[in-house]
Amino acid sequence: MSVAFQQCLHPDCAATFDVGQVLTSCPNCGSLLDVRYDWNLIPVPTSLTEFQRRWATRLNPVDFSGVWRFRELLRFATDEQIVTIGEGQTILQQNDQLGRLCDMQPGSLYLQYEGLNPSGSFKDNGMTAAATHARMVGAKMTACASTGNTSASLAIYAGVTGLFRCIVFVGSGKIAFGKLSQALDYGAKTIQIRGDFDDALARVREICSKHPIYLCNSVNPFRLEGQKTIMLRVLEGLGWQIPDWIVVPGGNLGNSSAFGKVFMELKQLGLIDRIPRLAIINAAGAGTLEELVNNGKLEWNDGRPNAAQIDVRYAAMNQNNERASTLASAIEINRPVNLEKALRAISVCNGIVRTVSDQEIVDSRARIAATGFGCEPASGATIAGVLRLRKEGVIGASDRVVCILTGHQLKDPDLTLAYHSGDSQLFDKKLRPAGVTEAPFANPPVVVENDEAAILKALGL
Ligand code: F0G
Repeated sequence: MSVAFQQCLHPDCAATFDVGQVLTSCPNCGSLLDVRYDWNLIPVPTSLTEFQRRWATRLNPVDFSGVWRFRELLRFATDEQIVTIGEGQTILQQNDQLGRLCDMQPGSLYLQYEGLNPSGSFKDNGMTAAATHARMVGAKMTACASTGNTSASLAIYAGVTGLFRCIVFVGSGKIAFGKLSQALDYGAKTIQIRGDFDDALARVREICSKHPIYLCNSVNPFRLEGQKTIMLRVLEGLGWQIPDWIVVPGGNLGNSSAFGKVFMELKQLGLIDRIPRLAIINAAGAGTLEELVNNGKLEWNDGRPNAAQIDVRYAAMNQNNERASTLASAIEINRPVNLEKALRAISVCNGIVRTVSDQEIVDSRARIAATGFGCEPASGATIAGVLRLRKEGVIGASDRVVCILTGHQLKDPDLTLAYHSGDSQLFDKKLRPAGVTEAPFANPPVVVENDEAAILKALGL
């Protein structure tokens, strides 16, 4: 067996495949695949602090990358094969203003702001790994379905490196303009299909399975290897201490899955002595995970979750033509492709799932942004989730909580403007249909005549 290999997630199959194979599910049984390692063959540091040495050599792009400076923990490629554009320069920030809002003690609440990535979202953590694998297997054409951020990320890697062409599939009317404009600008071939993200993903998976096109959605197991490093940077930001909670929005559940996997591996390697709890926050209009886990009591069950239960839920969604519906377009997903891996993460991390309404999402988003961390709506679900879990008493006032802000504010300027502007037409068009009735944290512009006295009056001077 080589250093790294792919392995079927299902314990009754557990088939293994070479990392040189392009697969997004097990050819034998159809389950998801993991990238696995023979840790005996990899010079993994004996302590996480050893990774800090790479700061001294950061003129080397592979050491500079916030993903690849941890490469011993995702060693499926050689240094020469790695494709990096400087992703992952994101840091953990303590935020006592939001901590106070959540009735938490000073020093308890932290934000991991992934909007600082080159394409403006956490996706670059995963895409650098997928792009590396695409290069390893000589892919010339890549594709993804997207609500916008995956496409922006894939398009930037294709654009910067010139290694491959890229096609993105988006659902019509289901994409924020800020995100769509990036794919167009970076030169991706953009196919807008009638339907939503779930439809676009099903279609692109079908097309990639029949043609030599490399799929870059999070069913690609290499992408999740890159996303593991978000947690490594969180630990780094805490001086390698373990927080009590990680709070993350849940869409296709790639992040949740990657976080569970890295903590499982770190524990196995003896690099951490305990695992933080994971809180996955769904939007109420896209709450498949919450429903299955909380109402249906669906569990990982050592790799054998009750598949019939999932099938029944999906069949009901089909029959009733139930569509995901939330203003947080990034998590407007009703058939999360990484469901089984997320169940494993919940098991590994003693995790929980909650839903929050669109009103809670847009209000929390505005409150996060008011502290200087401009994020898009899905990220707002994190603080909305913390507020809820504080009320429930699940998160304690002195627990150390890390919220993952997954994308940048400029991804969805329409929503931000509709919330703040005070323009009732805009509000009624964009926010009210989603059940948002008020904007208590709006900061509308003040319209005044171009006249000094009027301006001073408006300023209360
Ligand atoms: N946050 C943001 C900003 C996202 O763009 C996404 C996914 C998620 C959270 C959900 O993350 O799938 O790991 O649970 N966006 C996809 C896209 C759907 O096409 O850009 P997950």
